[in-house]
Amino acid sequence: MQVQGQATAASAVRLPSRLVPGCHVEAVAIAKPLLDVSGVTLQYKTKQHLVTATYRVSFHVRKSDRYILLGPSGCGKSTLLKAVGGFLTPTEGTISLNGTSVTGPGPDRMMVFQEFDQLLPWKTVLQNVAFTLIKSGTLSAKQAEKKAAHYVEKVNLTKFKDTYPHMLSGGMKQRVAIARAMAMEPQILLMDEPFAALDALTRRKMQDELLRLWDDTRFTVLFVTHSIQEAVTIGNRILLLSPHPGQVKAGLNSRGIDEADTVTGQKLSDKISRLLFMSDVEDEGGTFHE
Ligand SMILES: Nc1ncnc2c1ncn2[C@@H]1O[C@H](COP(=O)(O)OP(=O)(O)OP(=O)(O)O)[C@@H](O)[C@H]1O
Ligand SMILES: [Mg+2]
Repeated sequence: MQVQGQATAASAVRLPSRLVPGCHVEAVAIAKPLLDVSGVTLQYKTKQHLVTATYRVSFHVRKSDRYILLGPSGCGKSTLLKAVGGFLTPTEGTISLNGTSVTGPGPDRMMVFQEFDQLLPWKTVLQNVAFTLIKSGTLSAKQAEKKAAHYVEKVNLTKFKDTYPHMLSGGMKQRVAIARAMAMEPQILLMDEPFAALDALTRRKMQDELLRLWDDTRFTVLFVTHSIQEAVTIGNRILLLSPHPGQVKAGLNSRGIDEADTVTGQKLSDKISRLLFMSDVEDEGGTFHE
């Protein structure tokens, strides 16, 4: 996979030292961040190799942020998300949610993946959403079903609540996976390219739906993509990562869908393209300053 619209990948970069001219740079954070990722290096140790997936990555996600991790294939986006999910321990650095160190998976961080087969095939739409709620052990079956119905309605699938996954389209399955994650009311929703396997039209529709849901509930989402269009449409903050091993190249603000199809949105997309494919960010690199 390549970052869309580009033919070449940049070579490894040094850590950024300055701000990107023209970027809306964050002022000192007013509120304490919800998610604090600080100097995180992530490695995979196999018998033969030691793979460094990310190198000293730092970023802060605030409540109700639609925070995007954008970068080319192999830069460690999924690895970062897994670490925030608590499935991987950093070799260096820290990850904390609401001031508490992340040491393992928990219901406060729910993940949605790219694959369509995240659902239990022997359970209906409603049962799939209710199942996770029941398993969490905080609700009775009846309470779980009521809550599940509420979230199934939020993703416009009430008509299909008794349908089994094999009878749903890819987009519908992804909506069930989103409903299931949202029903847990996590502190942060972790989405790993959830629309990447959809056709272009459905993908656009799903992006709009996600924003509509966000407008409704103002959830916090950490969203991984390699699509610049998707990043600009969905995100209010976009963190650009360098090619393998992933390092922070820059942080940019976006106004999301309001801006995506405007000249400003196009300019932002162009800037992201330039930044992502510069082989060295020493002169123009930058990060959010929080
Ligand atoms: N289980 C694993 N064992 C060893 N190396 C791994 C493992 N998973 C990922 N890697 C390596 O870590 C690096 C980062 O992988 P990761 O999947 O996080 O990239 P990504 O940015 O999500 O890429 P993509 O856009 O293709 O999904 C890659 O070099 C990859 O080969
Ligand atoms: Mg990935």
